[in-house]
Amino acid sequence: MRVFRACGVACGGMGARARRRASRRHGDDSGANTRAPPWVSGSPYSWLGHFEWPPSTTSCMKGEPLSSELEPAIETPMVGKSVITLDDLSIRQIRELLHKAQYIDSHRKEVAHTCEGRVLATLFYEPSTRTRLSFETAMLRLGGKVIGFAGAQLASVTKGETIADTLKTVSNYVDVVAIRHPKEGAALVASRAASVPVINAGDGGHMHPTQTLADLATLQSRFGRVTNLTVGLCGDLTFGRTVHSLIETLCRFGNVNFVLISPDELKTPRYVLDRIDATPSCSYTEVKDLVSVIGDLDVLYMTRVQKERFFNEDDYLRLRDTYILDEAKMAKAKPDMAVLHPLPRVNEIAVEVDDDPRAAYFEQVKNGMLMRMALESSVVGDELPGYEPLEAKEVQA
Ligand code: NCD
Repeated sequence: MRVFRACGVACGGMGARARRRASRRHGDDSGANTRAPPWVSGSPYSWLGHFEWPPSTTSCMKGEPLSSELEPAIETPMVGKSVITLDDLSIRQIRELLHKAQYIDSHRKEVAHTCEGRVLATLFYEPSTRTRLSFETAMLRLGGKVIGFAGAQLASVTKGETIADTLKTVSNYVDVVAIRHPKEGAALVASRAASVPVINAGDGGHMHPTQTLADLATLQSRFGRVTNLTVGLCGDLTFGRTVHSLIETLCRFGNVNFVLISPDELKTPRYVLDRIDATPSCSYTEVKDLVSVIGDLDVLYMTRVQKERFFNEDDYLRLRDTYILDEAKMAKAKPDMAVLHPLPRVNEIAVEVDDDPRAAYFEQVKNGMLMRMALESSVVGDELPGYEPLEAKEVQA
C-alpha cells in the first residue's frame, strides 16, 4: 500500500491539518513504544524533576509553532552560547553557521590560527568515534588545543562526582566543552553548572544538535535547500537522537513532509510528533514498509537500531535487521535521492550502496567537522580571518 501517497505534500488539495489527521489514521498506534522509556510519551527531561520544560536556554515553548516566520524577535549572541538543542540558535544563526562552514572548507589555511590559545574539553561518558574526533579535529584545525576523556570509567564520576561538579571544575580549564552522556538532559544540567559554553554531543535518546548541523549542510550541498523536501527517516525512531534533532530543526525551516518508517516498537516519540503537529507547513506519515515509500523520498535518513538503549536484548535481536537498504531497494528510489546516515552503521545499509552516487553519509562526516569548526569558533567568539558575514554579503549582492 502506498500509504505516503495518501498524505503529505502529495495531496495537493488537502489542508495541513487534514493531512496530519490522515497521517495519524494511517499510523497504527496500538502497542506503539510499549517497551520505550517514559519520556517517549512525555517530556524527555521528566527524570530531572525540578527542571522545567522547556529548558530556559531555549527560545521556544513546547508545542509552539516554530516556522521561521515565528522566530523570536530578539536572538541572543553566539558568543558564550551553550547549544543543547538547535532551538538555542535562531534560524539566521544556523544559516550563518552553514555559510561559515562553506567558507572554512575553502579557506583551510586562512582559518588555521583562528582559535589559537583556546582549549576545548570533550567529556564523553558514552562511546563515540566520529563525534568526539570531529569536535577535537575541529578545534585542532582552528589552532586550538583539546583535553578530555572518552569513557566515564576514566573520570571522577566513578568516585561519585556529579555532572555539575565536573563542569564547575572543567570550566576553570577550558573555553568550551562538548559533552556526551547516556542520560537525557545531562547536557542541560552541564550547561547550567558551567561558566563556559557547553555543546551537547548527544544526551541519551534525546538530541544531537551538531549531527543535525552536519545533516543540514549535507542537504544544503545536495539540494541547495533544506526545505520543500520529502524526508524519510528509517529505523530506530524512538531512541535515535539524531532523528529527533533533525525533525525539530527541519520543522523550524518549514515545508518538509516527513515519512517516519519504523516498526511499531520503534516509533517516533510523542514530543517529536507534537513538534511536527505544531508546524503548519510540515506533515508526517508513519509507515512500517520502506520499499512501498522509497520512490517518494528526496532524502532517506537511515539509522542504526540503538542496542545500548534497549531494556531487553531479545527485542534488539528481533528488531535490528528490520531494514536493510541495498541496491535492489535503491533501484526503486529517485535518481537524485540522497541517503544519509549519522553512522556508525551496523547492517542497515549494505556496503554495495557506498558506491552509489546517492550515498551521502561520508560527506556528512566531513560536513560534521566543518560545522563544528564553525560552531566552536563562534561560541568562543573568534572571528574567521577574511570571513564576511552572510547578511553583509547578501546586502552587497
Ligand atoms: C549517532 C549518535 O551517537 O547518536 N552517531 C553519531 O554521533 N554520529 C548515531 C548512532 O550512534 O547510531
